[in-house]
Amino acid sequence: MIRTPTTQPETLVARMECLADPTRLRLLRLLQQRELGVADLCRALQLPQSTVSRHLKILTDRGWTVTRRQGTANLYRLLLDELDDDARRLWELARQEVAESPVFVQDEARLRQLLAARENEARQFFAGAAATWSRLRHELYGPNFTQAALLSLLPEHWTVADLGCGTGEASVALAPYVRQVIAVDDSPEMLEAAQQATADLPGVEVRQGLLTDLPIKPQSCDAALLLLVLTYAPDPAVVLAESARILKPGGRLVIVDLQRHDRDDFRRQMGQTSMGFEPRQLKEMAAAAGLKSLHGRPLPPEPDATGPSLLLHVAARPVLQKTTPPDGN
Ligand SMILES: C[S@@+](CC[C@H](N)C(=O)[O-])C[C@H]1O[C@@H](n2cnc3c(N)ncnc32)[C@H](O)[C@@H]1O
Repeated sequence: MIRTPTTQPETLVARMECLADPTRLRLLRLLQQRELGVADLCRALQLPQSTVSRHLKILTDRGWTVTRRQGTANLYRLLLDELDDDARRLWELARQEVAESPVFVQDEARLRQLLAARENEARQFFAGAAATWSRLRHELYGPNFTQAALLSLLPEHWTVADLGCGTGEASVALAPYVRQVIAVDDSPEMLEAAQQATADLPGVEVRQGLLTDLPIKPQSCDAALLLLVLTYAPDPAVVLAESARILKPGGRLVIVDLQRHDRDDFRRQMGQTSMGFEPRQLKEMAAAAGLKSLHGRPLPPEPDATGPSLLLHVAARPVLQKTTPPDGN
């Protein structure tokens, strides 16, 4: 079949001229495989930087390659996807013609060696840094990015209730990752602080209300949080039942609270009504509220924390509520 030419003859000639140079073909061949800097290309082709840079400039000016800055280096790549069909066909033809040539095979072998050596350097860095990596990671990049990564696992259509939200710390953390956060507390001072903290976050609604009579519709939340709240509840079972009410079938309740302790001075100082919980107690209360416990565990003590240790408990509202079988069945 004869294809109708779409490229102007002068454009075609200019492209052919550009490809009619062995150094430029060698460069394109490597840049088709990956993005590379001038230094790596010089080593792979064993050519001086001035030569490589000159040819890269021609290739970039003629639209075959693009460059971007990374730190102090310029990285180049072949713009294959963005070339029109004719240019791509021309390149494919040139590439096939020279594919087996020893010069190209050696370029590729040198590049492979170079990259393998680089990988080895990275491996050696981590082998040496293993003992200090946790501290270094924290020093270099701060403490928050792991939490951000994990929060981004949340389904973005979720509505989450932050029950007893206090100053709104959990709501602030969650807001960028879910559709809606409903933050509830009954303390006007806490609510004021939560309101301020979440003012710029769309999707957060701060509501005044009691944990025993939540201002939230039944079965409207995908998840609910009770963080450091149950130890303040005179009747935690009622709070759990109310939390269960607002969960959709399959929705999850996450509790973090104090492990049972014997520091009555601490309890009084913090205005708490209970001395914390045993995992078994939370499981029993969750079951009484119609929730199925999924997992619970003591959390490892934080090195600088002065309060009693914490525990985590996760329960879910069953997807299918049990129905009472008719008499006789
Ligand atoms: C220790 S703070 C924890 C705040 C927040 N969850 C956090 O992790 O930082 C306990 C919060 O629960 C709220 N609270 C306690 N009992 C409550 C109740 N019956 N109804 C609504 N809020 C309550 C308090 O006002 C307080 O803001």
